[in-house]
Amino acid sequence: MWALLVLIGAAAVSADLQDLAFDGQKVFRVIPQNDEQVEIINSLASNMQVDFWQPDSVTLVSPQMQVDFRVEADKSFEVEDLLKESGVEYRVLIDNLQAALDAQFDSKARTTGHSYEKYNNWETIAAWTADIAAQNPALVSRIVIGETYEGRPMYLLKMGKRGPNKKAIFMDCGFHAREWISPAFCQWFVKEALETYGKDTVMTTLLNSLDFYVLPVVNIDGYIYTWTKDRMWRKTRSKNAGSRCIGTDPNRNFNAGWCTVGASKNSCDSTYCGSAPESEKETKALADFIREHRPTIKAYLTIHSYSQMLLFPYSYTYKLPSNYEELNSIADAASKQLASLYSTEYTYGPGATTIYPAAGGSDDWAYDQGIKYCFTFELRDTGRYGFVLPESQIKPTCEETLLAVKYIANYVLEHLY
Ligand code: ARG
Ligand code: ZN
Repeated sequence: MWALLVLIGAAAVSADLQDLAFDGQKVFRVIPQNDEQVEIINSLASNMQVDFWQPDSVTLVSPQMQVDFRVEADKSFEVEDLLKESGVEYRVLIDNLQAALDAQFDSKARTTGHSYEKYNNWETIAAWTADIAAQNPALVSRIVIGETYEGRPMYLLKMGKRGPNKKAIFMDCGFHAREWISPAFCQWFVKEALETYGKDTVMTTLLNSLDFYVLPVVNIDGYIYTWTKDRMWRKTRSKNAGSRCIGTDPNRNFNAGWCTVGASKNSCDSTYCGSAPESEKETKALADFIREHRPTIKAYLTIHSYSQMLLFPYSYTYKLPSNYEELNSIADAASKQLASLYSTEYTYGPGATTIYPAAGGSDDWAYDQGIKYCFTFELRDTGRYGFVLPESQIKPTCEETLLAVKYIANYVLEHLY
């Protein structure tokens, strides 16, 4: 009898550590009309456990901004009352987060092993990087650029026809652990490139003339944590000296106006900038690789979610980049390409004015290294599902994003010298 109970218990735990963890949790959307209402949201954040989805921290909230945040089940009535009383208009975006989480695995694709139309766990993605390199020796090689805080190798795929003095485009995914659609896109991109090479003229030219460096998951430790412990985790998993709080925001950890704006010096915050620029092993490995290959890398793309935005420098300052007009017209054309498939609307512009001022991002850092074409994608959606985008949207999201990435890559190729 006891043995049986223990068995059942163990099976339930290993099946899913997070079973029902989000039952009754809600995601609210508010648009504070003035400073007073921003203050109300601030006090709400300090008095209750509130997880900011958009923007990523309460410190980034300003009037007229659309603000999405998640609230614990037992606090949701209190929060709703408070919003009502104070006259802040709100909407319940997700009524029961657990239901949305269950709906996220709605793909019809086969249930075991790797699939481009499912969310793959790290083990599956790691095995996939090895397979893809082994199966396409003429076009792909796998490189380890460093290791994570918890000691996992960081795999990078180099993709392109072999040749001397090739220029390259660098793209990474999975900076923020909970943005699962991002690693899904990096995998999709690699698949599409390999499948359409020799068939699609644009892709063939791209791979013949350029190399693509694709880093499918930057924040591997965090990504694993979202699969095993907390689906809503964002940061790395490193320990902070003298603090019980874990992790640094990898996209606040680069040496670009580091921690001057839109980032927190408090290690418990979701936008903690870290103890120093590149304090994280993951960001250091990425930055080292880019520095080492700097003369060959002509574009830097980094994939996040959600918001449907195409951002370019700067975010750490309101100063415009020197080729602002060019970046703006590329973003305009890339957004049009993206919308041509399913009419998905993107907004675009410099990060500081389009999303919020925030220092320490990899896009700004790469730009200041001299890489003239730097873009941050914020993929689907605009908040209906937020970070828990259903698997049935992986294919359309990746298809449309591919059009924008191909456009940018082709532009870069045509403006190499
Ligand atoms: N949501 C992204 C983040 O908070 C936006 C990044 C835009 N770029 C930047 N350098 N802040 O990381
Ligand atoms: Zn992100």
